[in-house]
Amino acid sequence: MTYNEIRKVFLDYFKQHGHKIVPSASLIPEDPNLLFTIAGVVLWKPELRGERPAPAPRVANVQKCIRAGGKHNDLEDVGFDNRHHTFFEMLGNWSFGDYFKEEAITMSWEVLTKVLGLDPNRLVITTHHSDDEATEIWKKLTGKDAIRLGDKDNWWAIGDTGPCGPCTEIHYDMQPDMIGGLPGSPEEDCGRFVELWNNVFMTYDRDANGNLTPLPKRNIDTGAGLERWAAVLQNKLDNYDTDLFVNLKRAVSDLTGVKETETNKPSFKIITDHLRSVGFAIADGVIPSNADRGYVIRRILRRAMRHGQILGHKGGLLSELYPALVTEMGDTYPELKNNQQHVVEIIRNEENSFTDMLQNGMKLLESELPNVNNGILPGDVAFKLFDTYGFPLDLTQMILRDKNIKVDVNAFEKCMNEQKERSRADTRGTKLLWESQTDLPATIDIEKYETKTDKPATVLSILRGEEFVKSANENDEVEIVLDHTPFYGTQGGQVGDMGVFKIDDNVVMNVTETNRVGGLVVHKGVLTSPINVGDEVMPEINQQNRQQIARAHTATHLLQAALRKVLNEDVEQRGSKVSPDSVRFDFSFGRAMTTEEKQAVEDLVNEWIKSDLNVTHEEMDIDSAKKRGAMALFGEKYGDRVRVITAGDVSCELCGGTHIYHTGEIIKARINKEKSISSGIRRITMSVGALAE
Ligand code: SER
Repeated sequence: MTYNEIRKVFLDYFKQHGHKIVPSASLIPEDPNLLFTIAGVVLWKPELRGERPAPAPRVANVQKCIRAGGKHNDLEDVGFDNRHHTFFEMLGNWSFGDYFKEEAITMSWEVLTKVLGLDPNRLVITTHHSDDEATEIWKKLTGKDAIRLGDKDNWWAIGDTGPCGPCTEIHYDMQPDMIGGLPGSPEEDCGRFVELWNNVFMTYDRDANGNLTPLPKRNIDTGAGLERWAAVLQNKLDNYDTDLFVNLKRAVSDLTGVKETETNKPSFKIITDHLRSVGFAIADGVIPSNADRGYVIRRILRRAMRHGQILGHKGGLLSELYPALVTEMGDTYPELKNNQQHVVEIIRNEENSFTDMLQNGMKLLESELPNVNNGILPGDVAFKLFDTYGFPLDLTQMILRDKNIKVDVNAFEKCMNEQKERSRADTRGTKLLWESQTDLPATIDIEKYETKTDKPATVLSILRGEEFVKSANENDEVEIVLDHTPFYGTQGGQVGDMGVFKIDDNVVMNVTETNRVGGLVVHKGVLTSPINVGDEVMPEINQQNRQQIARAHTATHLLQAALRKVLNEDVEQRGSKVSPDSVRFDFSFGRAMTTEEKQAVEDLVNEWIKSDLNVTHEEMDIDSAKKRGAMALFGEKYGDRVRVITAGDVSCELCGGTHIYHTGEIIKARINKEKSISSGIRRITMSVGALAE
């Protein structure tokens, strides 16, 4: 039976047994405590608790899952055994207060032995040591004595708190010729027995103190890994030798020109597994970044690139393989196809930015290997790889794994903490240094609203380290003040621009951050050629990044207007952070918003985006602005001349930030989270544009 057929057989069986079939939910879970959807049951936390009605008493689905980062993490094992994946599909059936142990057990036995025809003699059962009922049901149904195990093996919980309960697992004997290896025995990881199905009897809700309270009803939650079923049904010892993976591995071979061998097998496994996690996660809206799930995806992608490098491959890897994933899985998961161009672009950008760092980082690592003592790589080397070459710690660990070298993780973490301290001190330090430059004229930055300038700017001052210098060289990290600039310096919650300085069309500096210190706009970045005070440069902002910031800023105004409409007119902004395509908005409001309210606010913002309202940017004196009814920020001081940003007739605010001209440019808005940050103040995070899509 092929991989894709198994899904259908499973769902057909449960459909015939009265289950409503629901589609897989997103990999980005509703539950803010989880980075990714780690099991089908994640969707049903409120239903199990009786907080939301279930779509039907019996439900089944096939759920895409990622277990990487966080409590459920399989990342480190992928590639080095036969059955770990970061991305996998979970077959699951649920009963919400409907059938319980007997029927659940009977159905799973019937599916495995009758529908799929597995040999009952090769199936082994485990139950929780406290669970006589399940143990007796098994005995009556199959004549088998279940192996009774403790919480580690036979108790299942989504997280530290929430629904949980005892479970019973069905294992398959992959290699009856082997000796030992039974579940619960010291050799259980030898690969002889593989868990095929977990039936959880969701009975309790665990609170933060570990107390168990019975759930309103007794429920069933089951989960089975499709990849393992495929291996068993196709008589393979290794999940990665089943049809779907064989096809994906062929694509890797075609791309790299390398055939799979015993030695390079881990690389083939890692690349095909990571292709699925990265591809599916980005198609569901995750963007590689330095935080949270974005960082997990970045790490996975970088691990894959390292294995591309082991196979001698240069250039795009997962971006080139993505079409093969769409061929294999795009019919079942149309989101892969619908977002194809966007996903490939994001992967390609990410790959481009890491390619050189990977090469150079590997050179550094290899040059350090002869100095390794007692099989321990010093923490500062791992830190340099992280800080300068973007090697996540787990990537360095993976590279060293087959050389039997470990990283001194404590020393690595010490370096990380020291760097955090330094950068805090740096920001304070350079700010003071700039403040001491009282002779420097305030930067003329009115061009920030035009987004560009056509006349070169003069370098007025260069700060390198803690020293103001007349000239600085290639690779120096510097801060520069010009006489005029189109760069927006972080202010009023809006992050500053990124971009470049050019001389004669050649880039001389990559500006990664722009800040304001008093009247000065300070450009921070790294020089790519020497620069002197008095030089003339063309400052050019990264227009795409600016557009993403501008649309997020206008969206913030719409969000405030929508909150005032849906909640009440007293809602007031208390702070905000506007970044590329993302918004953090703090406002005064005394309680949590309901799901309906959040939806109504999001709908209203999207309605205004759809109507493509005109956004006007006008400068006027403060009295005229007040007469217009422009909203001002609580506690903020304004000068005599102010800017007024109006979106159709829905929003009119005093604002010095940069904005778009039509609300349609925002494309889409999505509220991600709403939570309390202090008494009477709530925080909403919202994505817009490509991120929201
Ligand atoms: N939630 C259980 C598991 O993930 C059964 O679905 O194993």
